[in-house]
Amino acid sequence: FGLGIQLPGAAGTVDPATLAKTAPFDKPGQYELSDGKYQVIMIAYAWGYLPNEIRVPTGSQIKFKITSRDITHGFLLEGTNINLMILPGQISEEKVTFTKPGTYLFLCHEYCGVGHQAMFGKIIVEDPK
Ligand code: CUA
Repeated sequence: FGLGIQLPGAAGTVDPATLAKTAPFDKPGQYELSDGKYQVIMIAYAWGYLPNEIRVPTGSQIKFKITSRDITHGFLLEGTNINLMILPGQISEEKVTFTKPGTYLFLCHEYCGVGHQAMFGKIIVEDPK
């Protein structure tokens, strides 16, 4: 990318070669920041996402921080306006509030090889018991 060109959602860089040892990507997963607010640290790879299932109460806000450990992937979150390119070396950030319960699929929408079709996960939003 040329000087000054920024991807939407771009929020810094990280070396994909040392991802497993670089915070926060050394511990992908779901973290509660405060009441009703979550941070999801996610790694996209050929062919899947870590984590690939997230569960939050209705009304929660999730802040995503996503990178790729290999090649270019996508992150399209159904039922929202989230549509990100996930590039190795680049951190993408986006946040969304889930006001309605349901299962929201996310999937890769950048062709990334034979396993592309199988690259998806889900967010389960449910009313507190
Ligand atoms: Cu990853 Cu398509």
